[in-house]
Amino acid sequence: MSKETLAKTIREIPDFPIPGILFYDVTTLFKNPSALQELSDTLYEMYKDKGITKVVGIESRGFIMGPILATRLGAGFVPMRKPGKLPAETIEESYDKEYGKDTVQIHKDAIEPDDVVLLHDDLLATGGTMEAACKLVKKLNPKKVYVNFIIELKELHGKDIFSKDVDVESVLTL
Ligand code: PRP
Ligand code: MG
Repeated sequence: MSKETLAKTIREIPDFPIPGILFYDVTTLFKNPSALQELSDTLYEMYKDKGITKVVGIESRGFIMGPILATRLGAGFVPMRKPGKLPAETIEESYDKEYGKDTVQIHKDAIEPDDVVLLHDDLLATGGTMEAACKLVKKLNPKKVYVNFIIELKELHGKDIFSKDVDVESVLTL
């Protein structure tokens, strides 16, 4: 399946969740068996040789491909969650996003210094969410941090926010 065909499986919903936002709905990609397989295969090919030991998925839309990719890479999966959801000791980082303010938390013992971490989320818009996620993971001193999105919105230039030591890649640029 071509990237163009894969992109066409993503449903676009204008004015959701608020007026002026064009929502990219990846559930229509996920429900399509060939599109889901193609996405899984593409992600695997992108990261199979990077020595990834932990995939960190960002709540909530990073919780779908994150674990699928982790099993394919033979890596562990770590959830990064919104406040008050993780039961053990956490650290956190707050950020501004496309619509509103938010905070992400991770378990303090989720990442070890010898981990090579791949942070995964569905969408790069302003980059606020993932930048906070990067800062948070870096507090746990992993060996290396990779960042991945299914979709990158090129007009918002979210990629520019990341520091040079972080390797940022997206499957689709829209
Ligand atoms: C959306 C999306 C990304 C983030 C992208 O999540 O899933 O996580 O916004 O925006 P940014 O690049 O401007 O930070 P949202 O916070 O809406 O929550 P959800 O994943 O739980 O639906
Ligand atoms: Mg999200």
